[in-house]
Amino acid sequence: MAETRTISIHSYRGGTGKSNITANVAAGLARRGKRVCIVDTDIQSPGIHALFDVDPRTLRHTLNDYLWGRCRVEETAVDVTAAVNEEAEGSGRPPITGTVMLVPSSLRTGEIARILREGYDVNALNDGFRDICGALDLDYLLIDTHPGVNEETLLSIAISDCLLLVLRPDVQDYQGTAVALELARRLEVPQLFLVVNKAMSSLDFSAVSDRMLATYKSPVAAVLPLSEDLILLGSNGLASERHPDSGFSQGIQKILDRIEEGEEA
Ligand SMILES: Nc1ncnc2c1ncn2[C@@H]1O[C@H](COP(=O)(O)OP(=O)(O)OP(=O)(O)O)[C@@H](O)[C@H]1O
Ligand SMILES: [Mg+2]
Repeated sequence: MAETRTISIHSYRGGTGKSNITANVAAGLARRGKRVCIVDTDIQSPGIHALFDVDPRTLRHTLNDYLWGRCRVEETAVDVTAAVNEEAEGSGRPPITGTVMLVPSSLRTGEIARILREGYDVNALNDGFRDICGALDLDYLLIDTHPGVNEETLLSIAISDCLLLVLRPDVQDYQGTAVALELARRLEVPQLFLVVNKAMSSLDFSAVSDRMLATYKSPVAAVLPLSEDLILLGSNGLASERHPDSGFSQGIQKILDRIEEGEEA
């Protein structure tokens, strides 16, 4: 693939499942042979490294270091492919043929505080997104975001080829999603999908999907079930690699199919 495609995973409210969905989608794309890098732009409350069992104390550089001009953006990337393969051990799956990398944000209190106090140059983040695609020869750049609307989410949505907007079946999420959708439409994101997460198994998933489409006029890539596997994992692993036949994993496959449709566009 010649060009990198950028996908932002966003939600208006917190805790919808963005980071878990991002990590599982990244693993799934790599299983389909792609070179993928995730950037944790949740600088205020980073977390996605946990899904790949990355110990923050072992990190040489983080996104913060890049934003402060201490290193090149590609120096912040950690190869987590081995961690993905470890997750699949025991499920009988072969090793993945692609690559998963992660640009983590700092978990040091002082560094988080500095970003909150001083802010950072959003243009540098924009340059970083662009430069890392070429430097690491990526097929996909996945951007895990902080909930709500702030400068980095606006930037990431604006530069994305595809946006996954995650919401729970919850009226508070519904209203916030309308705001996020309006923004994405104004920013003219080429591919836009809703992902409903944490749906109770007693719900009729296709009815939920139809209702979302009717309300938001946006396609639903998948309705993902509230999953005991994910609750038990507690963000310390990849449910789709451990249990590839579960309802959650089947939903992740549907998201991957929709994402890959965009490659032809
Ligand atoms: N389908 C699911 N079933 C059960 N639990 C889930 C599911 N998806 C996510 N979770 C759980 O919900 C919690 C929040 O998930 P996650 O951190 O991925 O959300 P987030 O949107 O990234 O949160 P934040 O807004 O804080 O960044 C985690 O404990 C995770 O294990
Ligand atoms: Mg998150």
